[in-house]
Amino acid sequence: MTRVAIIGAGPCGLSQLQAFASAEKKGADIPEVVCYEKQSDWGGLWNYTWRTGTDQYGEPVHGSMYRYLWSNGPKECLEFADYTFEEHFGRSIPSFPPRAVLADYIKGRVEASGARKFCKFNHAAHWVRYSDETDNFTVAVRDLENNTLVAEQFDYVVVSTGHFSVPNVPQFDGFESFNGRVLHAHDFRDAREFTDMDVLIIGTSYSAEDIGSQCYKYGAKSVTISHRTAATGFHWPDAFSEVPLLTRVDGKTAHFKDGSSKNIDAIILCTGYLHHFPFMSNELRLEATNRMWTPGLYEGVIFENNPKVMYLGMQDQYYTFNMFDVQAWFVRDVIMGRIQLPSRAEMEAHSAKWIEREGTLENYEHEIWFQGDYVKELLDQSDYPKFDTEGINQTFMHWEHHKHDDIMGYRDNGHRSLMTGNEQPVHHTEWLKAMDDSMESYLSDSAA
Ligand SMILES: Cc1cc2nc3c(=O)[nH]c(=O)nc-3n(C[C@H](O)[C@H](O)[C@H](O)COP(=O)(O)OP(=O)(O)OC[C@H]3O[C@@H](n4cnc5c(N)ncnc54)[C@H](O)[C@@H]3O)c2cc1C
Ligand SMILES: NC(=O)c1ccc[n+]([C@@H]2O[C@H](COP(=O)([O-])OP(=O)(O)OC[C@H]3O[C@@H](n4cnc5c(N)ncnc54)[C@H](OP(=O)(O)O)[C@@H]3O)[C@@H](O)[C@H]2O)c1
Repeated sequence: MTRVAIIGAGPCGLSQLQAFASAEKKGADIPEVVCYEKQSDWGGLWNYTWRTGTDQYGEPVHGSMYRYLWSNGPKECLEFADYTFEEHFGRSIPSFPPRAVLADYIKGRVEASGARKFCKFNHAAHWVRYSDETDNFTVAVRDLENNTLVAEQFDYVVVSTGHFSVPNVPQFDGFESFNGRVLHAHDFRDAREFTDMDVLIIGTSYSAEDIGSQCYKYGAKSVTISHRTAATGFHWPDAFSEVPLLTRVDGKTAHFKDGSSKNIDAIILCTGYLHHFPFMSNELRLEATNRMWTPGLYEGVIFENNPKVMYLGMQDQYYTFNMFDVQAWFVRDVIMGRIQLPSRAEMEAHSAKWIEREGTLENYEHEIWFQGDYVKELLDQSDYPKFDTEGINQTFMHWEHHKHDDIMGYRDNGHRSLMTGNEQPVHHTEWLKAMDDSMESYLSDSAA
C-alpha cells in the first residue's frame, strides 16, 4: 500500500489530512497516511505556548505567536469552503478573531472529520532520505516522550512545517553592550512586558506593525520603527515614529542612518523568518525565501528535484487556510494518481512563467491578484468546493485600504463571507480598547 508521511500538523498539515479524510468519506481508497507532529497537539503556530528557546525535550520551540494576537486579515479571506465559520460557531461572528477563536475553528474541522487517527504527536522529524534503488523515503523521527529514534519507509513525503518559526536574526553594532533586552519577534510573548518603555522595532512588515501596535495598546511609552527599505507610511498615533535603519547602539542610545538618535529600553527584531528544513537531506531540501512564488516548486507545491516530495504553504501569504486547502487537495490528487504530473522540463517552464509575472508585481494589489490567480488555478483542478477568489481579492483590497486609512482601527470593520454570502458583524469593542482576547469575550454580544 502507498504510504504518505506528512511532517507537521499546523494549518497546512491539517489541510492535507482533511483532503485525505474527505476522499475517504467519498468512498475512495486512500493511501496509508502518517502525520508526525512534534508538539503534543495539532494547530501549529495557532497553539499558544509561553515557552521560548527549547522545549522540555530539547527541541526548538516552534511557536511565534504571542498573547493578545488577533487575526491581521479578515477571516472572510481565509475561510474554508468545506467548513464555514457559521457552521463551526453556529452564527456569524466578527471579522478579525483573536488567536484562540481561529485555533478553535481550524481544529474543529479536523476533529469533526476524524483525522486525529492519522497523527503521531510528540514525534519530531529528524532525517528524511531518498533511495534511488527502492524509490522510497526513510523518515527518521524522534519519539519525544520515549526519547527513541524510529525510522519508517514512505512513498511520498509532504513537508508542512511552516516557515514563520526559525527567526532571521541580523546583528547590529553595540548589541553586545546594550543595556536592555534584544529579542526577535519569534520570542515575543506578552506586550505588557514593555509597558512604560521606549521600544525600538526593526523591520516594517506584519510583525513590525502588529507588535508595535500591541506594545502601544498595552502601554509602551513610545514605539520607533526602523526600516531598511522604506517606512510603512501608515498614519501612526503620536507615540510612534519612523526612522531609517539602525546603524549602532551605544549604551541605551540607538543611532540611525540619517544621523538621528533615540534613547530606548528594548529592541524587537521583526526581521522575518528563515525557510529551514534541517531534517531534509541535501537533494530534498527546499532553499527558499519569503516571496510570492517559490522557485523549484511546480504549482507552488511539487518539489521539482523529486516530485514525490511536496512542500505546502511556502509562499509569502495573503491567502492562508483556503490556499493551503487547494494546495493539499492538488497534492492528494497527484499522490492518488488522479492528476498526472508533466515532464520536469514542462514543470520548470510552468514555474518560469509564474516567476516572470512575479517580477512585474509593483504593489500589494498586484500581489493579491497574483496569489488569487494561483489559488484559482489549483482550485480548478480538484473537487475542493469552488469559491469566489475574485471576491476574496476584493475583500483584501478593502482591508488594505482600511489599514491605510486607520492602522489602529482597521479591525473595527465587518466583511462579507464569500462562502455563505452573509455580512459579518462588527466586534462589540474597538480593537484598541479590547484588552480581553478570550474566545468567550469575542463571541459575546457585548463587553463584560
Ligand atoms: C506571529 C504570526 C501571526 C500570524 N497571524 C496570522 C493571521 O492572523 N492570519 C493568517 O491567516 N495567518 C497568520 N500567520 C501565518 C501563519 O503562517 C499561518 O496562519 C499558518 O500557521 C501556517 O501554517 P503551516 O502549517 O504552514 O505552519 P505552522 O503553523 O508553523 O505549523 C507547522 C507545524 O509543523 C510542526 N513541526 C515543525 N518542525 C517539525 C518537525 N521537525 N517534526 C514534526 N513537526 C514539526 C510544528 O510544531 C507545527 O505544528 C501568522 C504567522 C505568525 C508567525
Ligand atoms: N496576526 C497578526 O497580526 C500577525 C502578526 C505578526 C506576524 N504575522 C504574520 O507573520 C508572517 C511573517 O511576517 P514578518 O513581518 O515576521 O516577516 P516578513 O513579512 O518576512 O518581513 C520581514 C521584515 O524584516 C525586514 N528585514 C529583514 N532582514 C532585515 C535586516 N537585516 N535589517 C533590517 N530589516 C530586515 C524586512 O525588511 P525589507 O522590507 O527591507 O526587506 C521586512 O520588513 C506574515 O505572514 C504575517 O501575516 C501576523
